[in-house]
Amino acid sequence: MPRIAVTVDGIKYEQDVEPRLLLVHLLRDHLGKTGTPIGCDTSNCGACTVLLDGKSVKSCSVLAVQADGSDVVTIEGLATNGSMHPMQQAFHEEHALQCGYCTPGMVMASIDLLRTDPDPSEEAIREGLEGNLCRCTGYCNIVRAVKRGAQNVGATS
Ligand code: FES
Ligand code: FES
Repeated sequence: MPRIAVTVDGIKYEQDVEPRLLLVHLLRDHLGKTGTPIGCDTSNCGACTVLLDGKSVKSCSVLAVQADGSDVVTIEGLATNGSMHPMQQAFHEEHALQCGYCTPGMVMASIDLLRTDPDPSEEAIREGLEGNLCRCTGYCNIVRAVKRGAQNVGATS
């Protein structure tokens, strides 16, 4: 079995993994990062989105061995000193969730969106999040939250 080294939410792990193991299963089943949900088995829903070396990926479409030597951030690694990340705060303030199942992926994808577009238009937000599906909210509050999150992030940087 290949042995990989991966940093997840600031902690370095060394792990023997089966070559076919998916990153999402490494996170959830081996490292206990159950904050990253699995919403489908078709790489469609985006619920499993994490940051891999700063870029959002659907962790069900990445092999764990592909993350060897990388830095992974999950929804569980966003808060600092007990304070939510500005994007998490914005989702909270805008009531941008109902069941919450899509929320970790939405937040991670939104953070990545701001990396390339710090002040996205509504259209850019909808386009940027098109790989993340929500069954509950109708997306309006999510779009508002990302707008607000962009302001929050801008105010803290
Ligand atoms: S669980 Fe990864 S895209 Fe749905
Ligand atoms: S809040 Fe339920 S799927 Fe998005």
